Amino acid sequence: MKKGIIAAFRGRLPLPPSAPNISLGEGNTPLLPLTLGEKYGIQIHAKVEGANPTGSFKDRGMAVAVASAKAEGARAVVCASTGNTSSSAAAYAARAGMVCVVLLPEGKVAAGKTAQTVAHGARIIRVRGNFDEAMAAVREFSGGGVAIVNSTNPMRLQGQKTAAFEVCEQLGKTPDYHSLPVGNAGNITAHWIGYCETAARGFSHCSHCDGKCPFAAKEKPPQKPPVMLGFQAAGAAPFVRGAPVKNPETVATAIRIGNPQSFAAANAAVSESGGRIGELGDEEILAAQKTLAQKEGIFCEPASAASVAGVLKEAAAGNFPRGAQIVCTLTGHGLKDPDVIRGEAAAEAGPEKESLRAAMQKVINGG
Ligand code: F0G
Repeated sequence: MKKGIIAAFRGRLPLPPSAPNISLGEGNTPLLPLTLGEKYGIQIHAKVEGANPTGSFKDRGMAVAVASAKAEGARAVVCASTGNTSSSAAAYAARAGMVCVVLLPEGKVAAGKTAQTVAHGARIIRVRGNFDEAMAAVREFSGGGVAIVNSTNPMRLQGQKTAAFEVCEQLGKTPDYHSLPVGNAGNITAHWIGYCETAARGFSHCSHCDGKCPFAAKEKPPQKPPVMLGFQAAGAAPFVRGAPVKNPETVATAIRIGNPQSFAAANAAVSESGGRIGELGDEEILAAQKTLAQKEGIFCEPASAASVAGVLKEAAAGNFPRGAQIVCTLTGHGLKDPDVIRGEAAAEAGPEKESLRAAMQKVINGG
């Protein structure tokens, strides 16, 4: 499989021929079956987007947005971010030889994301305010060789739609439901674009060659796109409230957003699909993060776990038919936000053999 989404999907992206192939090897992320759905008679798969080069789904959209900005002659990119967009923008701008300016809400960006953004050499403006205020400021910036790479840039959504292409290839069909955490609402909108395009053209197991290899002839008939499910944190749930939230608050800092830029588009996508957007308490999100890490071996950041937390909650309420095939996007890697993880050593031991042996006995026996 080709690495990098521009190489893999160029024929399905509206990039001009002059756009360079900017890539860090993003895309082609694992789709892992989970055991968590078994007790409800449903099949859950996790699309592990934390496996992208900078540890989040943003890399798909950033590859395309930066390539497009480069083709248009921009010398700098700018974004507001809760941390993942800025990490990705900084990395892809470095790759493309461009300047990257990021506006970060003060004190609310997880440690791993701040480290990445600094490491890649982004020029950081710390905003005394929240994401929504930083986003409003960014909208003033564009033009004059500076390209906005937030998801208000349609190229971002074009890149991110490729995750839906991959899910269909990996499953061999469109899933019945697709669940995502919702913040600025670009990703759920992008997935809907991707699923609608896939459903309309059918798909082969080999769209990575974009129709040029012998297997590509075996296209499947058009299929129904999935029902889209979105989940927000209760303290930052403008879709559930039906209006912007002034002071959003949640432990899932990635989705601490009160005024989503893709509000209308996401609402349209969800309702066309027959889906819904729900809300979750922070404790439900953190419980799902822990379950994924300890029962499935997948460490994702809190915001990401909202997709699974929401599905488990709906499953417990009996909202899915038996056998339903559900894909949950795990949007970012757990190492992005190490500070939410609390725990202690199960035992202490001195360097003497006896002490170590006693400690081993204790922990093996469940201490
Ligand atoms: N999950 C993670 C880990 C995110 O970083 C984001 C958004 C989302 C979910 C929500 O996606 O905004 O498309 O609805 N992070 C943005 C950022 C806002 O700046 O990194 P969305």
